[in-house]
Amino acid sequence: MLTTAIASQKGGTGKTTTAIALASGLTYKGKKVLLIDADSQANASKVLLPTYQHIPKEDTVHRTILHRQPLPIHTTTIKNLWIAPAHILLSDADMELTVARDHREARLKHQLDQVKGNYDYVFIDCPPALGWLTLNAFTAADEVIVIVSPGYFELDSIVQISKTIAEVRKGYNVSDPTVNTANSLAILRKMYGNQLLQTIIPRNTDLRDAHFSKQDIFRYNPSAKGALAYARLIEELYP
Ligand SMILES: Nc1ncnc2c1ncn2[C@@H]1O[C@H](COP(=O)(O)OP(=O)(O)O)[C@@H](O)[C@H]1O
Ligand SMILES: [Mg+2]
Repeated sequence: MLTTAIASQKGGTGKTTTAIALASGLTYKGKKVLLIDADSQANASKVLLPTYQHIPKEDTVHRTILHRQPLPIHTTTIKNLWIAPAHILLSDADMELTVARDHREARLKHQLDQVKGNYDYVFIDCPPALGWLTLNAFTAADEVIVIVSPGYFELDSIVQISKTIAEVRKGYNVSDPTVNTANSLAILRKMYGNQLLQTIIPRNTDLRDAHFSKQDIFRYNPSAKGALAYARLIEELYP
């Protein structure tokens, strides 16, 4: 059982796309997978749960993070893939946890520990900020994949997220930071060396279109450039 948080400090870098591709791709290799949606935008939940609009916050990770209740586990449109969906009101978590006194960074880990034996892999789709939800994800995770898209300013945010991972590792948990990028490769390799993944995910509109059709990329178009790249990433991460 391996738990992986998928993070970046910015929105729109491909976290949710990567979470769905890795999770679905592993089910097609016969694995049982749980995807935890920790982003209040709930994009992964909307792709994988046809009835998402009717799910009350009590059936989402809102109850786990805000009320320390067991993870709500729903079947998805994909066999052997389960999801603990997010809720828009998860956006309240950062403020509420700031005044909480219990082990507020470990609420997700505590509940995940109760159920993770049922799965081969667990992925946590993180929100685009380094708040309490992301800290809960890092604390629950064995490793973190940081998604990087091209550009100089991205590098600043990687430095910040690496510091947070280092802090979590020291204070709360042991994590393996792993960086995946499409550009600025030379700088990244210099800074992060072998922590940088080899596989680069290209721009590919099929990845967006698949989610509009509420499908994963492998079912939507298995020969798309994006599908082939994510298949390579799965080989690299889980040989
Ligand atoms: N490799 C890619 N090529 C083209 N579009 C992509 C790619 N990865 C993600 N997208 C699209 O970019 C947008 C943001 O991606 P998403 O995975 O939702 O990012 P995040 O979860 O980091 O906010 C979505 O519309 C998604 O379909
Ligand atoms: Mg997302």
